Amino acid sequence: MNEPVRTLLTGATGSLGRELRPRLHRAGHDVRATSRSPPSETDDHAEWVTFDLKDGTGLSDAVTGIDVVVHAASAPRGDSEAVDVRGTERLLEAAATAGVSNFVYVSIVGVDEIPYSYYEHKRAAERIVERSPVPATIVRATQFHEFVFGLLDGLSWAPIWPLPIDFQMQPIETGEAAAAIVDRATLEPAGWVPPVGGPEVRTVGELARAYRDSRSARRPIVPVPVPGAIARGFRAGEATCPERTMGSVTWKQWLEKTKTDSEQ
Ligand SMILES: NC(=O)c1ccc[n+]([C@@H]2O[C@H](COP(=O)([O-])OP(=O)(O)OC[C@H]3O[C@@H](n4cnc5c(N)ncnc54)[C@H](OP(=O)(O)O)[C@@H]3O)[C@@H](O)[C@H]2O)c1
Repeated sequence: MNEPVRTLLTGATGSLGRELRPRLHRAGHDVRATSRSPPSETDDHAEWVTFDLKDGTGLSDAVTGIDVVVHAASAPRGDSEAVDVRGTERLLEAAATAGVSNFVYVSIVGVDEIPYSYYEHKRAAERIVERSPVPATIVRATQFHEFVFGLLDGLSWAPIWPLPIDFQMQPIETGEAAAAIVDRATLEPAGWVPPVGGPEVRTVGELARAYRDSRSARRPIVPVPVPGAIARGFRAGEATCPERTMGSVTWKQWLEKTKTDSEQ
């Protein structure tokens, strides 16, 4: 019988990590999950380790004995230079020493085209992964439904919703993105692989109207003209990959599903 693949999952408490954990386990991986403050109890058969990419705490212990790293830790709202760039560099150094067979790096569609600082740090991390001697797989995904929902929900209290209605997005259910990433978490590194995108490209205006309808809200959506290169990138669809519509759960279906779940 084959030994199970020993897999380190970073960012295991995040939106994506929560979906990756059970899927990796079901796919037969022995999962070691990282967090800066691991939960005291979980029911997903992962071994938890304390780990901080910013100061290097626990990195070399975390990768010892590991075959595959799925690197989903990130600091989108924090110090992404320290965590995403320098932290990924440190983690790769530890992975090289540990003899990791495949370092799966999760990135975002459009990081090379949209000069938003978090995206620039993700692009820098991709380059570090590319140049590292550790065999790797780099997979980009489009925005998760959960992420788009968080943005719109954060605005829902406001009397009007000022939005860049012409930005294009292609959101995907987080679980469907996780399933595609688990398929890459094998002992065979694949280098750059095709991106993982949601089932349809929609403008922010369309996404916001669907959100408003699903929550029976009546607030006016007010178009905000956003100048600059970041806005140009989102408007031109650089954060989408219409040739790769992998997910099947549309934004409207996801909204209905989460509404039903929250009512139960
Ligand atoms: N959200 C999206 O729409 C989207 C779309 C495409 C790709 N992605 C990519 O997918 C990956 C996961 O995104 P996500 O939305 O799941 O992120 P998230 O919900 O913000 O979770 C971030 C994770 O990173 C960990 N983390 C943060 N700072 C850390 C540090 N200093 N050291 C170690 N771990 C740290 C957190 O763990 P603790 O707090 O427990 O330490 C948490 O588990 C990221 O690389 C992101 O760029 C996201």
